[in-house]
Amino acid sequence: MVETDSSVRIARIAAADLSAYKNLRDEALRLYPDAFDADLDSERARPPESYLGRLGLSETLGGSFLMGAWVGSELVGMIGLERQSQQKLRHSAELNSMMVHPRHTGKGIGIRLVEAAIAQARQAIGLEQVVLRVSASSESAIRLYERAGFQGCGVVPHAIKLVDGPGQVRYFDKLTMVLIL
Ligand SMILES: CC(C)(COP(=O)(O)OP(=O)(O)OC[C@H]1O[C@@H](n2cnc3c(N)ncnc32)[C@H](O)[C@@H]1OP(=O)(O)O)[C@@H](O)C(=O)NCCC(=O)NCCS
Repeated sequence: MVETDSSVRIARIAAADLSAYKNLRDEALRLYPDAFDADLDSERARPPESYLGRLGLSETLGGSFLMGAWVGSELVGMIGLERQSQQKLRHSAELNSMMVHPRHTGKGIGIRLVEAAIAQARQAIGLEQVVLRVSASSESAIRLYERAGFQGCGVVPHAIKLVDGPGQVRYFDKLTMVLIL
């Protein structure tokens, strides 16, 4: 199916969507282990309700949420924002959990998710900047974030270490990017 802009719905993920979110998240952890800090083996057993805190329902000033992209009733993409909790850091939030299912990539869903997340972030009281970390080798993802206004500000070498088996180790450098709201 080729979806048009209007056939994709972008909205905040609600408590009722957490099972679909959990399925998509586990798929993301399986397919793109370098893109996420969490690992599938640790996360697989978590029940959907354990992600309730990520919906930001108790964050009265805003700046913490999950958003999804739906094609019909299928959740095909996701993005998250997590506002820092410590007083000196609360002007800042981390953008994470960005993934579009491979059946739906290359159609503009990713940029729509990022733009929707930025629009929500701009509604949050006192939030001044959004920070993210992306694999330095993910050129397409970096281009997407740059199109949305993020700027790269430094690479952490070997930020992610994947051990695939005995003697099979892969390292991934991470580029930090920031958007001033
Ligand atoms: C990175 C990711 C989220 C991008 O999602 P996406 O939906 O494919 O993003 P978009 O469609 O907006 O943009 C991707 C490309 O498609 C192109 N595109 C968008 N709409 C298009 C259209 N209608 N026709 C042709 N090309 C199109 C964009 O120009 C972009 O091209 P580029 O890679 O040459 O710059 C997705 O590839 C993904 O989930 N990757 C794995 C996880 C990951 O790396 N997440 C980021 C963690 S920080």
